[in-house]
Amino acid sequence: MRNGMNAPIDPARTEIHSGLRIADRAPDFEARSTIGPVKLSDYRGRWLILFSHPADFTPVCTTEFIELAKRADDFERLDCGLMALSVDSLFAHFAWLRMIRDQFGVEVRFPIIEDPTLVIGRAYGMVAPGDNDSAAVRTTYFIDPSGVIRAMTSYPANVGRSTPEMLRTLEALQTIDATGGLAPANWSPGEDLLKAPSNSLDEVYAAEDEMSWFLRREDQGGKP
Ligand code: BEZ
Repeated sequence: MRNGMNAPIDPARTEIHSGLRIADRAPDFEARSTIGPVKLSDYRGRWLILFSHPADFTPVCTTEFIELAKRADDFERLDCGLMALSVDSLFAHFAWLRMIRDQFGVEVRFPIIEDPTLVIGRAYGMVAPGDNDSAAVRTTYFIDPSGVIRAMTSYPANVGRSTPEMLRTLEALQTIDATGGLAPANWSPGEDLLKAPSNSLDEVYAAEDEMSWFLRREDQGGKP
């Protein structure tokens, strides 16, 4: 872990682009949200997907929120909270969620944070360097129950994220944690994992064929 335990956001560092990486501790923060005040550290013990969206009342963002809200039960089943963030005010968030409910029949119940000063967005690298808002990027962090960043994605404003891919990434992270296996390309929940390659020359020489010491796929009901 590159940050200290429970490292809070340091405003002095927020003028530069965040250097947060996989295996860093997610900086803690407290903010107003559509479900009341929220603290990142309140999610300790559960998974959390923290993501920024460019702006309320924009078309791609609206589709993302509808799809995420429709799959909210699937994230819940995986013990994972969702938390969104943009520079828009709490009241803009409320008005947008009301429009989504009235026009699309979907209630967004996960919290949407207001980040008017961009202090959180900058700390998390959700704001492009030199920009005054978070409109340019859709950033997503997968944070594990101990508060460590385990995966992150960054999409441009004009490409919406895939909810099935967010669920797949979450399940892959949870499955490799539980089994010690490796998730191969295009892995889907329930499919076989790979075993870590052998690190013993004796095992390499003893392997049945040239490949089987490092590409080891085992049919054990999704376990390595
Ligand atoms: C959108 O969500 O549709 C969007 C937001 C910012 C820039 C471009 C598109």
